[in-house]
Amino acid sequence: MTRVLVTGIRGKTGVPLAGLLTARGVEVLGGSSDPGRVALAGVRPVPFSWDDPSGWSAATGAADAVYLIRPDRPDAPELVAALLDATPAGAHVVLLSERDADQVGPDGWAVRTERAVRGSGRSWTILRPSWFMQVFTDPRFYRDRLLDDGELPFADGGARVAWIDARDIAAVAGRALLDDAHSGQVLELSGPESLSLARTAALLSAALGHPVAHRELTVEEAVAGSEGFERELSVLTFERVRAGVFSAVTDDVERVTGRPARSLARFLADTGPALGRPS
Ligand SMILES: NC(=O)c1ccc[n+]([C@@H]2O[C@H](COP(=O)([O-])OP(=O)(O)OC[C@H]3O[C@@H](n4cnc5c(N)ncnc54)[C@H](OP(=O)(O)O)[C@@H]3O)[C@@H](O)[C@H]2O)c1
Repeated sequence: MTRVLVTGIRGKTGVPLAGLLTARGVEVLGGSSDPGRVALAGVRPVPFSWDDPSGWSAATGAADAVYLIRPDRPDAPELVAALLDATPAGAHVVLLSERDADQVGPDGWAVRTERAVRGSGRSWTILRPSWFMQVFTDPRFYRDRLLDDGELPFADGGARVAWIDARDIAAVAGRALLDDAHSGQVLELSGPESLSLARTAALLSAALGHPVAHRELTVEEAVAGSEGFERELSVLTFERVRAGVFSAVTDDVERVTGRPARSLARFLADTGPALGRPS
C-alpha cells in the first residue's frame, strides 16, 4: 500500500487531500504539531512540527511520498532542506508554494525554498496556487470582517484575483503525489475566473444574505499590526496583488485533474452554513 505523509493535515488543503487519498486506498500519515486534534477518518496522526526536528525522521521515515506545506517563516529554505535530508531517497515530494513564486520574499526566500526541494535529490512537483477561496471562511483572514462588519477590506489597487478553491489544490496534489507524470513540473494553479474585489464582494453578499462592501486599503493599512518577517511578506504579497500576479487564469487544474476548477459561486454554495461561525 502506498503511504503518504501529509503535513498540515488539519489545514485548508490537508483536510480535502486526506479525503481524496484515503478514498483511493492510500495510507495517510497526518502530520500535525498537535496530533491529538487530528480526527479524520482513515488518517493515522503523526507528530510533525517545524520546531522539533527530532520527530522528523519518524514522520517521514516510512513514507513513499510527502506533501509539504511551506512554513511561512524566514528559515523555511533551511528547514525544508533539512526535512528532505531526513526523508527517504525514493520518496516523491510535492511542495505547496505560491503563484509565480520567482518574485517572492526577502532575498528570494520563496525561490530558495523551492530550490531546496529541487536540489534535494528526491523527485518533486511544485504547486503554485493563487489566493485560496477559504480565506473567506478563516477567522485568521476575512471571516469575521465579512460577518461582523459586512466589509471586505483588501489592498488590491483595482487588480483582480483568480481565487482558487483549496479542494482543487488538494485534487492536483493528490494526482502529483501518486502519479509520476507530474514529476519535475511546476504547476501554476488558479480558479476559473479572475474577479474584481467588487464582484467578489457581490458574490459574498449573495451567499451570506447580507450586504458586503469591498473597501480599498493601502498596503500600509492592510499590513497594520504585523511586524518583522510576517509584515515584509504581507507587504510583498499585496504589492504582487496590485501588480496583477494573482489575476491570471491558468488551466493547470483542469489539465491535471481532468475537470475545470471550481468557481467562487460554487465554493460559496457548497460551503453553505459553514460560511458563518461554527455553532
Ligand atoms: N491562504 C492563501 O490564500 C494561500 C495562497 C497561496 C499559498 N498559500 C500557502 O499555503 C500554506 C498554508 O496556508 P494557510 O496559511 O492558509 O494555512 P492552513 O492551510 O490553514 O494551515 C496551515 C497548517 O500549518 C500547520 N502548522 C502550524 N504550526 C505548525 C508547526 N509549528 N509545524 C508544522 N505544522 C504547523 C497547521 O496544522 P497543526 O496546527 O495541526 O500543526 C495547519 O494545518 C502556506 O505555505 C501559504 O504560504 C496560502
